[in-house]
Amino acid sequence: MSNKRRDFLLSGTSIMAGVLGSVALTPSIKRWTHTNYGEKPRIITINGMMPGNIMAFTWNNKSFYILKRTKEMLESLNTINDQLKDPESRYSLQPENCKNQHRSIKEEYLVVYNHCTRVGNSLMVNNKQETYLKNVGFYCTDEGSRFDFAGRSFIGSPGGPNLHIPHYYYKDDNTIVIDKSIF
Ligand code: FES
Repeated sequence: MSNKRRDFLLSGTSIMAGVLGSVALTPSIKRWTHTNYGEKPRIITINGMMPGNIMAFTWNNKSFYILKRTKEMLESLNTINDQLKDPESRYSLQPENCKNQHRSIKEEYLVVYNHCTRVGNSLMVNNKQETYLKNVGFYCTDEGSRFDFAGRSFIGSPGGPNLHIPHYYYKDDNTIVIDKSIF
């Protein structure tokens, strides 16, 4: 079966509420899940993703998200450095080519491990930008860790460093290949 056929679409609204409250994703948010292909590089087709869409998949027994950031999400990254533990990602794990404000190769696409840096739980995605979750991109329902739309950890959040970023590259404009773990 081809990778494409294994992929399937889930409703973003199936994401559960957490300790930070119930967060419904906007109707435009879609979530795909892929099958784990083991040690081989993971090839992800991203054409068709709209701003605000989130893609979920697993590789090497880890979970990942690809988020196509909206203009508002990108703008928020410029304004909150003083709220972050490690705004320049000096003490966080990412490839050298993602050691920038966006923590990505291309501004609009964030490729990130879906594991909280506290104990490793999976994260919820906040695309609705509720007032009480302002500028929060990802949050953890365990003890309430919060990360921005680049996976950077907020001061006062129980989470450790910023979310981890894997090694990846663009095969072409519509294809991302994750080829190496950051660990
Ligand atoms: S694992 Fe995320 S706050 Fe505990």
